[in-house]
Amino acid sequence: MLGTGFVKLRHDVKIGSRNPNSDKLKTWVANNGTQASAGTFAETASFGEIAVLATLWEGTEHVIHLARPENLAGKIVIDTTNPISSIEPGKPLSLVLGHNDSAGEQVQRWLPKSRVVKAFNIVGNTHMLHPEFPNGPPDMSFAVTMPELRIRYPRFSPHSDGPQLTSAESRAPACLNP
Ligand SMILES: NC(=O)c1ccc[n+]([C@@H]2O[C@H](COP(=O)([O-])OP(=O)(O)OC[C@H]3O[C@@H](n4cnc5c(N)ncnc54)[C@H](OP(=O)(O)O)[C@@H]3O)[C@@H](O)[C@H]2O)c1
Repeated sequence: MLGTGFVKLRHDVKIGSRNPNSDKLKTWVANNGTQASAGTFAETASFGEIAVLATLWEGTEHVIHLARPENLAGKIVIDTTNPISSIEPGKPLSLVLGHNDSAGEQVQRWLPKSRVVKAFNIVGNTHMLHPEFPNGPPDMSFAVTMPELRIRYPRFSPHSDGPQLTSAESRAPACLNP
């Protein structure tokens, strides 16, 4: 959904996958024109000026390993993940990181030379591009580690002015999402 949205905004977009030649990705590339492509996670991490991490939580560390952290060094990495998983197959999803840690902080530890920005994780993917609600556009929390990235976008609200990454807090509203 985000990839399609970024192409519509005229960005070049490469989607990373363990299987970039899958039918699903071939179809996505074919439907999104010359600015769309697919590659391995390493190719995709090298390609992007900005990367978006949108991986199932339990695969995230592995994907970062496949992408190679050096390919993302110095780049903004927008982390959309929620650290939720089934403790047992068939059981309901639950948080796998506690209240004093978060996916964003963990991702920043896995990518120490990148600038991790936690965003988009509090809404369903159908509301990630041009969200429309009866009372107008919603606020979107984000959390960052780097003081120089504590900037305010129209419609985007930094979740805290504190010195530490606060994605544990920004994630809390996501728990209200079904
Ligand atoms: N969907 C939403 O509405 C939504 C909203 C807010 C936040 N999020 C968060 O965004 C993240 C992605 O969500 P999604 O719905 O797009 O998930 P998804 O379709 O299940 O996962 C997509 C990605 O995860 C990778 N992946 C899955 N299992 C893996 C494993 N075992 N090892 C390595 N890579 C693995 C896939 O790689 P391959 O292509 O190689 O299979 C693919 O790149 C999640 O953390 C979710 O909590 C989702």
